[in-house]
Amino acid sequence: MMTIIVTGGAGFIGGNFIHYYLSAHPEDRVICVDKLTYAGNLSTLAPVMDNPNFRFCKLDICDREGVFALFEEEKPDAVINFAAESHVDRSIENPEIFLQTNIIGTATMMDACRAFGNVRYHQVSTDEVYGDLPLDRPDLFFTETTPIHTSSPYSSSKAGADLLVQAYQRTYGLPITISRCSNNYGPYHFPEKLIPLMIANCLNNKPLPVYGEGLNVRDWLYVEDHCKAIDLILHKGRIGEVYNVGGHNEMRNIDIVKLIIHELGKDESLITYVTDRKGHDLRYAIDPTKIHEELGWFPETKFQDGIKKTIKWYLENRQWWEEIISGEYQNYYEKMYGNR
Ligand code: NAD
Ligand code: DAU
Repeated sequence: MMTIIVTGGAGFIGGNFIHYYLSAHPEDRVICVDKLTYAGNLSTLAPVMDNPNFRFCKLDICDREGVFALFEEEKPDAVINFAAESHVDRSIENPEIFLQTNIIGTATMMDACRAFGNVRYHQVSTDEVYGDLPLDRPDLFFTETTPIHTSSPYSSSKAGADLLVQAYQRTYGLPITISRCSNNYGPYHFPEKLIPLMIANCLNNKPLPVYGEGLNVRDWLYVEDHCKAIDLILHKGRIGEVYNVGGHNEMRNIDIVKLIIHELGKDESLITYVTDRKGHDLRYAIDPTKIHEELGWFPETKFQDGIKKTIKWYLENRQWWEEIISGEYQNYYEKMYGNR
C-alpha cells in the first residue's frame, strides 16, 4: 500500500486524477493538498470525500511549515505536484503569483521530499515549456530534447520549475520524473479555458470570444488519458526522465468552437473575433513516441468521443459550472473580455 500526496487535487486535472487513481488503486491512500484558490473547487472532490483512503488538506504548497508538518504526520511514499496557477491570460495580467506558486511551491514540496527520506516526486509540467511551432511546418513536433523556449509568464514559471526539479535530482539525488502534456479537456475544467468557456457561453447564448483569427493550433487530449499516463510514469517511469504526453490531435481554435456550436445546435453568429492574446503561441504538437515505446501508453479516447462526453458532462452538471460563473468569475470575465 502506498500513501501519495496529490497537490492541486481540487482543480481540473488533479481532481480527475484523484477520481481515476482511487478507483484504479483502491488499496492506496491519497492525500489531497490544495490551497483552494479561485480554481480549486471542493465540489469536484465530493464523490471521494467519504472514501476512507482519501484525505483533503487545505494547504498552500508554499507554506513550508504546514507542508513539513503534513509529511511528518503522513509519511508519504510519493508526491504528484499538479498545484499551479495555470491560466496563461491571468499570467499576462499578474505574473507574480505564478512565480510564487509554480516555482517556490515546487521547491517547497521537493525540500519536504528530501527532508523525509528522499520521497519519490513527480512534476506535472506542460508542453508550453517548449514554446511554439510554426503553423506552416506540420512536420515539426516537440520531443523531450526540444530546447526550453517559453513565451508567457505562465510557461516561464513552469519551465523554471522543471529546471529546479532536474537540479534537485542531479544535486541531491531526489528520485524525480517530469511529464509534459498537451492541452487537456474533459469534466471539471474551469470555464476560463477555451473548451468549457465556449460550452458555457453557448448554453447561455453569449458571444464566443475567439482570439485573433482563431487559427492557433492546440493538441487536445482527454483528461483521463493524461491521468493514466501519470499513473504509469509514477509506477514504471525511469527516474530522472522527462515524458511528453499528447495524442496527435491537433485542431485550430476556430474549428473547436464551430464543433461545439454544432453539437449544441447553436448558430455561428455567436462567434466574436476579439483582440489576440499577447505573445500568443501559434501551434503546440507533442511527439509521444517515448512514453508509447517505454511505457506502452497511448491515448484511448478519440477526440470526437471525448468532446461529446465532455459536452454531455457540462449539460448534466450545470450546477457545478453555474456556481463558478455566478461568483467572482464575473469580475474576471468583465476585466478580460469587457473591452476586447
Ligand atoms: P487548475 O487551475 O484547474 O487547478 C490548479 C489547482 O491548484 C487548483 O485546485 C488550485 O486551488 C490549486 N492551487 C493553486 N495554487 C496553489 C497553492 N499555492 N497551493 C496549493 N494548491 C494550489 O489547473 P489544471 O488545468 O488542473 O492543471 C494542473 C497542472 O497540470 C498544472 O501544473 C498545469 O501547469 C498542468 N498542465 C495543465 C494542462 C491543461 O491543459 N490544463 C496541460 C498540461 C499541464
Ligand atoms: O498546452 C498545455 C496548456 O494548455 C496548459 O499548460 C495550460 O495550463 C492550459 O491553460 C492550456 O493553455 P492554453 O493557453 O493553450 O489554453 P486556453 O484554454 O487558455 O486557450 C486555448 C486556445 O484558445 C489558445 O490558443 C487561446 C484561445 N482562446 C482561449 C480563450 C480562453 C480563445 O480564442 N478565446 C478564449 O476565450
